[in-house]
Amino acid sequence: MRTNYLTLVNIEHPIYHPVNRGDLVSVSRDHPDILMERTAAEALKRLLSDIGAEGAIVPVSGWRPRKEQEQIWADTVAEKGVAFARKYVALPGCSEHETGLAIDLAENAPYIDFICPKFPRKGICQVFREMAPYYGFIERYQKSKEAVTGISEEPWHFRYVGTPHSEVIARDDLALEEYVERLSRKKALRRYCQTYGTAGSCRAIQMPGRLQAAGKGGV
Ligand code: DAL
Ligand code: ZN
Repeated sequence: MRTNYLTLVNIEHPIYHPVNRGDLVSVSRDHPDILMERTAAEALKRLLSDIGAEGAIVPVSGWRPRKEQEQIWADTVAEKGVAFARKYVALPGCSEHETGLAIDLAENAPYIDFICPKFPRKGICQVFREMAPYYGFIERYQKSKEAVTGISEEPWHFRYVGTPHSEVIARDDLALEEYVERLSRKKALRRYCQTYGTAGSCRAIQMPGRLQAAGKGGV
């Protein structure tokens, strides 16, 4: 099945289609056990290489099978309590990590916290954050969107949605929930984006003249 890079996953939208295991690849040679969906992994590699961040930024957690998400949830509840777990761990079945489209990153350091890795808003991590939308990634859980996403601020969690969606989401300061809702109000555009949206690298969503002429508008 074709990957839908705009798939919304949260507590109200549990995972509908299991990931195609054949589409998962390692995010780097140094971290062979950390997997992502192929296109997302390639975009991540390109971004890290282009900004010279290989080694300075390290992957912490990529694709998680359901059983791993269950274990993380159970361990976090046991160690830190349910209130903390609700803030930083998605319920099994409701985690973007199960799609292969999410990656947690950390600034390289001798100790890296698995649940809340440090990914500061300065230096090379900030460069990554600012460049991410041009490579198809969004910072998924922002402080200003906690009420919308239901998850606390996670400066380390990036979600691949593909360009140009990522660029529009960053430009308009949207949560993925808000962007998907916006698209759903534009039926023709939604159909167009689902078919072609992640294939190109255009700077803005540009619908074919036929659809524009029909007054369907852009994002
Ligand atoms: N930390 C994110 C919310 C997850 O567990 O998917
Ligand atoms: Zn994450």
